[in-house]
Amino acid sequence: MKDRLIIAVDGPVAAGKGTLGRRLAAHFGLAYLDTGALYRAVALRLLRDGQALDDIPAMVAQAQAVSLGDLDDPALRGEQVGEAASMISPQPALRAALLQYQRNFAARPPEDAAGAVLDGRDIGTVVCPEAAVKLFVTASMEARARRRHAELLSRGEDISLATVQADLAKRDARDTERSASPLAPAADAHLLDTTKMDIEAAVQAALKIVAVCIKE
Ligand code: DC
Repeated sequence: MKDRLIIAVDGPVAAGKGTLGRRLAAHFGLAYLDTGALYRAVALRLLRDGQALDDIPAMVAQAQAVSLGDLDDPALRGEQVGEAASMISPQPALRAALLQYQRNFAARPPEDAAGAVLDGRDIGTVVCPEAAVKLFVTASMEARARRRHAELLSRGEDISLATVQADLAKRDARDTERSASPLAPAADAHLLDTTKMDIEAAVQAALKIVAVCIKE
């Protein structure tokens, strides 16, 4: 098997992981997987099929039915789906069902890419603990709320900054306090605080970290 480059990008909601992950993938010619979209896709399937968000067998069945095509659905990006994804994500049975999918993607990326960038909450700690590069991306609550608010407004959602901030605080608590794969930096993760950075500065900072890790 080829020695593939795996880059794990973890961090709290709206820290800029997605944009950064896509840019790193494009730069190195790697496949990219937004693992939050997997949780969102399961949530969307449950909502569309009228299934309860605490129905564990339904959740697992929906997780097993998720395909790459589901991950491009613009409906995944709405606030309601994000909230539902956050509510179901602590379930260990769901996490187990999605774990193999994520590991398969890293081991055999689409189009035989030279490796993969995965972004999420537990990539460096649980999904790909062997990743050569682990980034833990953070930003202040205020910066994350402002970015997420602007994103939701541009999608036509009518929501206040205060509501977005309260929502992020709730999600942070769920992500960090759950017992199954909580959000936490891996011991060997490199911290990247993007509070005062625009995306170009964050990409440049991340590229420097990757260069150091690849040389080691
Ligand atoms: O990154 P996001 O907002 O699209 O993720 C949606 C939800 O999925 C988030 O509330 C936490 C959960 N999630 C997770 O538990 N583990 C991951 N690796 C990725 C996302």
